[in-house]
This record gives sequence, structure tokens and C-alpha cells, in this order.
Amino acid sequence: MQIKTLEEYKTAYQKSVDAPEDFWAEIASEFLWTKKWDKVLDWNFTGPKINWFINGKLNITENCIDRHLEKNGNNTAFIWEPNEPGDKNRTITYKELSEEVNRLANVLKSFNIKKGDRVCIYMPMIPEAVYAMLACARVGAIHSVVFGGFSAQSIQDRINDSQCKVVLTSDGAYRGNKQLPMKVTVDDAVKNCPSITNVLVYKRTGEKVNMQSGRDFDWETECKKQSVDCKAEIMDSEDPLFILYTSGSTGKPKGVVHSCGGFMVYTAYSFQNVFQYQPHELYWCTADVGWITGHSYITYGPLLSGATSIIFEGVPNYPDSGRFWQVVDKHNVNIFYTAPTAIRALEAAGLDFVKPYKLDSLRVLGSVGEPINEEAWQWYHKNIGKEKCPIVDTWWQTETGGILISPLANITALKPGFATLPLPGVQPILVDEKGKEILGNGVEGNLCIKFPWPSIIRTTYGDHERCRTTYFATYPNLYFTGDGCRRDEDGYYRITGRVDDVINVSGHRIGTAEVESAINEQVDVVESAVVGYPHDIKGQGLYAFCIVPKTTKTNEQIKKEINDCVNKIIGAIAKPDKIQIVSGLPKTRSGKIMRRILRKVAEGELTNLGDTSTLLDPSVVEEIIKGRV
Ligand code: WTA
Repeated sequence: MQIKTLEEYKTAYQKSVDAPEDFWAEIASEFLWTKKWDKVLDWNFTGPKINWFINGKLNITENCIDRHLEKNGNNTAFIWEPNEPGDKNRTITYKELSEEVNRLANVLKSFNIKKGDRVCIYMPMIPEAVYAMLACARVGAIHSVVFGGFSAQSIQDRINDSQCKVVLTSDGAYRGNKQLPMKVTVDDAVKNCPSITNVLVYKRTGEKVNMQSGRDFDWETECKKQSVDCKAEIMDSEDPLFILYTSGSTGKPKGVVHSCGGFMVYTAYSFQNVFQYQPHELYWCTADVGWITGHSYITYGPLLSGATSIIFEGVPNYPDSGRFWQVVDKHNVNIFYTAPTAIRALEAAGLDFVKPYKLDSLRVLGSVGEPINEEAWQWYHKNIGKEKCPIVDTWWQTETGGILISPLANITALKPGFATLPLPGVQPILVDEKGKEILGNGVEGNLCIKFPWPSIIRTTYGDHERCRTTYFATYPNLYFTGDGCRRDEDGYYRITGRVDDVINVSGHRIGTAEVESAINEQVDVVESAVVGYPHDIKGQGLYAFCIVPKTTKTNEQIKKEINDCVNKIIGAIAKPDKIQIVSGLPKTRSGKIMRRILRKVAEGELTNLGDTSTLLDPSVVEEIIKGRV
């Protein structure tokens, strides 16, 4: 399934458009199926109803693990690099992975977890986080991983939305110089989660935790009791594999659902082609398993390909800003995949943190999560890739399951800031506000995809209508990405950023509505509006305008309380970078907040605010400009 030349890419692309079913059938045939599919694809974007590999039966873990055992069981699946550089690495072979996953799968069974049940995973970046996902998949349970930085309230909302029965967690987590109390947070969350019957706790930090008798169990003790064999549950291609919550323009985060067959085929295909992974190479994706990048390109894509990967527990700037490069040299990493925000932060720290390292094992560099600005691209290319490693700027989303637009390493000619060309099977189109296709090159519009690929979102958990209205109703018969995009004279794609009310802070998707409702929980705030503004390191920062009527508290006190509220309700990643206390917000006569004006103020573009004649009270704008922070 690996494309080797530009010619092969062009041929594959053409075939994927002319005969998509034949194209994907050939790729899917390379996997282990309990029963092959009857029909490759059945779809419409109106329902939407998208079925791939219909009536095919499989278990993704047999493809991630068992399939490799006979010939490559002693190959390394993971090298774990702990938070402290001096601490011991762990190396996990495919055979060991098999045993660990099966034991854990049996523990899940002992908790009465069955096919279709939901299991919440709230873990640090340790191999057990990956075992947890695979153990769920082994028994046919649907995992819902919650990023370790989210608050108890966020965990609770996610558990209740999908009625999870079990939580897999750890006592605590190390992240840089911080120690996070994961179990305490879970305890707090599950107080109001009646569906939870059991909590399994891995000892990572050894801190003392409360274990509720009959509900909470120790991970290692339970695993030791279990056999290293566990028959894989036979799943239908379209059975859900996992739920991953993500933020959108409105309301609470929604549970994006991916299914077993299509997700398997597409993550493996895209992993092997984008990174051009070669046997025995060492691959490192620095994402957290709590995000889609961790799902597709730490857990599933690499394991399906029999790859060897690094799992990294720490952060880029601990103990200092050379940590990534120290790890690259220590293990001789060949393929390195990270986010622009990390690159910008390390660039800002200075070259003294790069110079001590050779970095000569690197062959391919990757970028994901947000647009990479040209300066960061050049810095990465020159100082890390030594001008010999291609940078694959991979554009995709939680909803797409896998990379859709990206160079194929050493095959596609690069252009800084451009995700370049679609992968085979991906048919992007640009449309104007009315949904009319914008043809030709040298154009810009809203990015849509007009044909399904195997790992496209199937539904939003428990609310299919929300899936339809969010992604398939803006433009009839198109999947709408929410991103703006330019197609240049060469037909290359450059993603320009979100065109909706989603803000991308350090590569994390944050919905303004969600942050506003958290801010409004602070007692003195009567209304708020959050917008994004350009931030040197984070890409975008959050700027909150908050209406606070007369109070005896100081502004500093109120701002602190607002931050505490957001931290408690969502988590530290959503804390506003700037808070401005105001007496009113610019609204139209019909009461709609004019975010366009707030965005300009936040960006510091104060001279050209556009048409303000429809404002109910134009004096508000002057006050806001004066009080800008
Ligand atoms: C943005 C992350 C520009 C985009 C995999 C998208 C990017 C959102 C890129 C999805 C890229 C991701 N260039 N923008 N290479 N990759 N984005 O769901 O706005 O966390 O819609 O998935 O990140 O974020 P998500």
C-alpha cells in the first residue's frame, strides 16, 4: 500500500477518484478480516449514512498485534521515555504488548464489560494508556479517552453523555515539574456518574489515593490474576471503535464516533504513505493520546503498520527546552511528528538548546494541529531537519480520523505553510458562502470534501442530528470542515484557519461558547464574549470581554475568579490569556454580539472596525477600545 514515487501518487489518486471502491478494496485486502465485506461502500451525505466494508468482520487489535506475532513478535512496539531524563526507559515488544493488552481485556471482562459498552480512559502518557485503548477494542468496548488536562467537570460530562461503565486511570501523573492528581480528579468526577461501576487505578506516582471498596481496583494486582490470552471479539466494520469528544462552535463538546473497519484501513494507509515509514525505523509522535493525533498516529496507525514508536511522558521544556532533541539523539529517532506551537516555543527558547545535539538520525519531520507559519517552518527545516528532512504539514481533524491533505515525505514537492495535496481517496473542494464551488487555481474559500474516505466521522454519539447539522447541512452533499483554505496556482492547498467560532490554542480546539458559559459561572459576570487573537507561541490566544456591573471586588480579584471558574469547569487549557472587564458589549439592535468588532479590538486593529452603524450603542466600542488589555 506504500506509494513510492510522484507518478505512483498520481496514478493512485486518479484511481481513487475513478474507482473508489476498487481502490479501497485492494488496500483493505491487506488486513486480517474474520470475514470479508460484501460491498465496499454505501453512502449519502444527507443522512448522513456512511458505511464502509459492509458486513466485513474483524477486530482491529488482531491487526495491531496478533498479526505481527509470528514473524515479528520480538520487535519493539514502544519505547517509553519517562518525564525525568534520568529515569529508566521501558521497551515493549509486540509479544509483550499482546500479553499486557489481553490481561487488561480480561480485567475489563471481569468488570462485566461487554461489546458495545463504553469505557472512559483518563491516563498519563504511559504505555498503559495505549494498552487501555487496545484492551477496550479487544473486547469490543468503545473507548472514550479524555485528555489528562481536563477538569473533573469535563470528565463527568463526557462520562454521562456516553454512559461509561468503567474508568481506567492512574493515581497521578508527572508532567514537567508538575505532579497531577488524576485519581482525585476522577473521584470528584464520578461522584455524579451513576453509570460507573468500576475504576481501575494504575500506580504511576505512588501517591496515596482513596480506593473505594468494591468499586476501585489496583491495575497491576488485577492484571496479574488474568490470563495472557483473550479471544478478540468479532466486530462488524461499522461497529463503533471509539468516541472522542471535541469542541465546536456551539454547545458542549460532541462525541465524534469512529468505526472499526474504515478507521483501521485509513489510519494505516495514511501513516505509511505520509511518513513513508520503513521497517525498523523509529517513529515519534509527541501528541497526547487524549487527542485524535494520539489515537490515529500513536496507537492505531503505527501498530497496524508494525512500527516502533516512542511514547513520551514529558513536555518539550522540561528539564529544559532541549528535551525533544535529547530524546531524538538518545534513541536515534527517524521520524518526528509534533505541533507548530511546540516548534515556536522551542524556537523562542533559542538555538543554545539545539546545538548540543546531532539530530542526524532524523529523516522526516511532521507538523499537525494548526497552520504552521512560514518562520516556524523555516526554523524547523533548517535547525532540526538540517535542510535534508522533508516536513510533512499534515492537515486533518478529529472528525476526519486521519490525515487528509499532506505531502508524502520525499515524494511531494514542499512549499512552506502548505499542506500541499490531498491523499488518494480525498476529494477537497472550495466553496463560497453560498456553497457554490470555486473552480480553478489561485482561489480561496471554505474547505469541503465531496466524497467519503474510510475514516470519516459516522455520527456524534447519541445525537445523529447534531452530526448532520454541524458537518453536512451547511452545504448540501458536502462534508464541511469549518476551515478556510487557499488553493494556489499550483493547485496546492494552504489551510488558513477556522471560519467558525472554534479557536485553536496551542493546537487545542476550544469552542468560544463553551468558554463563555464557564466564565459566566463567575458570580459577578453577567455576560461574556470570547474571541481569538494572534499569539506568538500559541498560534491563537483567548481574549475574553466580560460584563461586570458594579461590585466591591477589584478587577484583579474578578479576573482570578474567572480563571478559576474556567479551570474548574473545562481545564487549564481554556483559561483566557486576556480578560477585559467591560460595562457592555457591542450588539446589534436585535441583540446579537458583533464578534467581528471584538476580534478587531483583540487583534489590535483599531482603525478599521468596519460598519458600526447597526450597533445599538456605538459608545460601547469606544469604551472597549480604551480599556483594551
Ligand atoms: C486545524 C487535529 C492548518 C484545523 C488533527 C482543523 C490545521 C483543526 C492543521 C482540527 C494543519 C489541524 N494546518 N490547520 N496542518 N492540522 N489544523 O480536531 O483548523 O484537534 O480544523 O485535529 O485543527 O483540530 P483537531
